Amino acid sequence: MVRSTVLSSALGLLSLVSVGAAAPLDTRVDAANTVKVMPFGASIVEITCWRAYLWKKLQDSGITNIDFVGSHGTPAAGCTLNGQSVNFDKDNEGHSGAKVTDYANNNSLPPWLSAAKPDMIIMHVGTNDASANISTAKVFSAYDKLIGQMRAANPRTTLIASKLIPIDPNLFGQSVADKVKDYNYAMEGWVKRTTTAKSPIVLVDLNTGFDYKTMTREGEHPNEKGDVFMAEKLFPAVKDQLVELSVQKMMGEQR
Ligand SMILES: *[C@@H]1O[C@H](CO)[C@@H](O)[C@H](O)[C@H]1NC(C)=O
Ligand SMILES: *[C@@H]1O[C@H](CO)[C@@H](O)[C@H](O)[C@H]1NC(C)=O
Repeated sequence: MVRSTVLSSALGLLSLVSVGAAAPLDTRVDAANTVKVMPFGASIVEITCWRAYLWKKLQDSGITNIDFVGSHGTPAAGCTLNGQSVNFDKDNEGHSGAKVTDYANNNSLPPWLSAAKPDMIIMHVGTNDASANISTAKVFSAYDKLIGQMRAANPRTTLIASKLIPIDPNLFGQSVADKVKDYNYAMEGWVKRTTTAKSPIVLVDLNTGFDYKTMTREGEHPNEKGDVFMAEKLFPAVKDQLVELSVQKMMGEQR
């Protein structure tokens, strides 16, 4: 296909998405245009349902050229929304109990990245580091190592970084809740200095407006209301970056 044709369909696609049309995003969706998305983190990624609701919101808005990737498909039991079961691509790289500092120290990511080849990574990780009172400096040198590993695997990695959802200080201790705040504050600066044009990092604030009293099961993991909140907060950034990546793929600019 000539570049101008690709570009005009790409621009058509962009305007279609920007008005929020429910029509199919791209009739030429195929394996080559599929964008691979890796949800990455700990139990708040693994055993929760925001991935299901995000998948559904993307499908419902016509973004169907996506493949969630990762080394496992937990939860096997699936997710429901308002009592209806939600079908979604369950593959993910959430590992309950994991710390971002463990992922960095263990060099966990490179084999997962080379197996799954994600274009985009949606990351929520650090709550277990907060529980273990790990210093902000150590946590952010771990994030530095991980983004380096992501970019070594794919120089055009798009990272959706998130501020951590809050944790109930009455159940987990004020010092743990404060650590979450410290990490979230530091995350703003980290994203600003680490994002590049080629490998953008987009920060999604999953903390502001998240009420641990009504949106968690037990002060830490989101319940249905919390999962809906997370999916709705992630959706605009994920959608915009998926469109960007789809355009790059159509124009043959991916790695
Ligand atoms: C890192 O390695 C330790 C020690 O082998 C293990 O207990 C832990 O589960 C690993 N964590 C991750 C996130 O890979
Ligand atoms: C957390 O670590 C800091 C620095 O080592 C220490 O001063 C503080 O007492 C620790 N807090 C808890 C709750 O263990």
